[in-house]
Amino acid sequence: MNQYRQEDSKVEVTGFEARYYDTLMNIVTLGWYPKFIRRAIADIGLTPGESVLDFGAGTGRNALLMREHVGESGKITALEIGDEMKAQFEKKTAPYPNIELVDRRIDEPLPYENEYDVVFISFVLHGFVQERRDTIIENAYRALKPGGRFAILDYANFDVDSAVWYVKWAIRRVECPLAEDFINRDTKEMLAGHGFERFEERFYFKNYLRLLKAYKPL
Ligand SMILES: C[S@@+](CC[C@H](N)C(=O)[O-])C[C@H]1O[C@@H](n2cnc3c(N)ncnc32)[C@H](O)[C@@H]1O
Repeated sequence: MNQYRQEDSKVEVTGFEARYYDTLMNIVTLGWYPKFIRRAIADIGLTPGESVLDFGAGTGRNALLMREHVGESGKITALEIGDEMKAQFEKKTAPYPNIELVDRRIDEPLPYENEYDVVFISFVLHGFVQERRDTIIENAYRALKPGGRFAILDYANFDVDSAVWYVKWAIRRVECPLAEDFINRDTKEMLAGHGFERFEERFYFKNYLRLLKAYKPL
């Protein structure tokens, strides 16, 4: 029996944390985050004209970075449900008609089919119980064009017991219990079970964080 409950998740960021999300990320990482997220988004390998579906898009910071790669001819569709996040997203991306915000849950079946070159999900997937993660992965698979890629930026798979103390502390004291459950499961196996193949990965922050790209077969 699964001891994890969706109610224990912290993935639906609200209130003060949501209103100051970008600033808080910059502060708690001692200024490291902006450089890291720019690097990780560059590592998706987006090219001009590509279309991106962003699951749990947040404040718009990531959308603006992705726009630098897909350009005017590309398109970004951002799915987000948090009120504070949506408000910041709309403000930040208002000048760009090729960035669209949609108020839609990602853990319920989505209507997109064979439409996007890339589905991106950044620090969101770990925050769901496995059944909902499976729904999210199904949604990504269906939304992608054949040959399209699912880019997951999140915790890597590692042994939390052997991790450096501050990572162990953050996972066990700051994060929700679902984060450790996610870390303990083989993410590639999870994706392969839904039909994804050909994995590419980049690691960051002493290999505790990973951008994992998985391809939908042609
Ligand atoms: C930890 S934040 C990450 C935000 C952004 N992806 C980033 O990397 O900065 C998680 C985000 O997922 C959104 N979220 C949580 N549950 C969601 C759901 N079921 N559907 C859509 N968005 C969701 C939250 O509102 C929040 O913006």
